[in-house]
Amino acid sequence: MAEIGKDISKAADLLKQGKLVAIPTETVYGLAGNALNVEAVTKIFVAKNRPHFDPLIVHVPNPQSARDYAAEIPDQATDLMRQFWPGPLTLLLPKKNVPDLVTAGLDRVGLRCPDHPMTLALLQSIPFPLAAPSANPFGYVSPTTPKHVNDQLGAEIEYILDGGECKVGIESTIVGFEDKTAIIYRLGGLRVEDIEPITGRVHVNVTSVSNPQAPGQLQSHYSPQKKVMIGDILQLATANEARSLGVLSFKKLNLPMGIRKEIVLSPSGNLNEAAQKLFSALRELDKSEIDIILTELVPDTGLGRAINDRLRRAAT
Ligand code: TXA
Ligand code: MG
Repeated sequence: MAEIGKDISKAADLLKQGKLVAIPTETVYGLAGNALNVEAVTKIFVAKNRPHFDPLIVHVPNPQSARDYAAEIPDQATDLMRQFWPGPLTLLLPKKNVPDLVTAGLDRVGLRCPDHPMTLALLQSIPFPLAAPSANPFGYVSPTTPKHVNDQLGAEIEYILDGGECKVGIESTIVGFEDKTAIIYRLGGLRVEDIEPITGRVHVNVTSVSNPQAPGQLQSHYSPQKKVMIGDILQLATANEARSLGVLSFKKLNLPMGIRKEIVLSPSGNLNEAAQKLFSALRELDKSEIDIILTELVPDTGLGRAINDRLRRAAT
């Protein structure tokens, strides 16, 4: 098990030695290493059992430092950074000074400035940016607490910087540009509705199946071990009544008897609250003694779009 603590200078020292530290962000916990040190980056791929074709996001302390790693920053990207950094937005920009291993040989790098006071302080205290994927084994649900990280990757990490529970709860929105059009490659914690007033109409391209631009686009990803079924929960419960069932609903339902475990994402129907609880809830259901997780899509607006994206992939 890794040590869990709030010591930012200890985290900085370990990272300077090329070791891995789990870091809190507003979205999910990251598994961080020095992005400019190929040995440290290699450890990240090994710890996560992550294929080398899947590039890592590079975390920077502020918008100015994006200039150190992006060869070119279009005006729309500058506007987005100004508005939303620090925050749940990753920008794909032509790369500079970033090892090929980090970008899986692609010519763009994903840059992000995370909105968490401890991680911002950490980034400001070290002379390099941090490569950090979500701190979970490849393909599994992202972690939103230090305990989630320790449960699965505790043996691989030196230290987990404890920044509490993640407040957004769903990964960053990934945005790139083709000509003058903004493209969303992963729906996430920044809403499409917040991006469009700044960039104009965006294209959402998150469904690529083979040769994905981003493996978050893989059809099956963010998946629990248990079977997940999406639809009308009451109908699904009737059709599967011989099985041991868990339910993940958006709002409170009147369920039939015999449901083993029920988690309501947001009794008041609030999508932000639902996003914040989604991954904890999936993990909890995955650990309970049930055979199948029954769930339903949420309204497809705001963070609901990202929630539905994750639910669909979890069910594939
Ligand atoms: O909220 C987040 O983004 C979290 C926190 C820790 O910052 N990080 C995260 O990283 O979700 P990860 O590695 O689990 O997911 C990053 C996604 C992957 O699907 C990856 O393929 C894509 O971003 N990505 C990263 N760099 C890319 C690049 N240069 N080109 C295309 N896709 C990229
Ligand atoms: Mg991930």
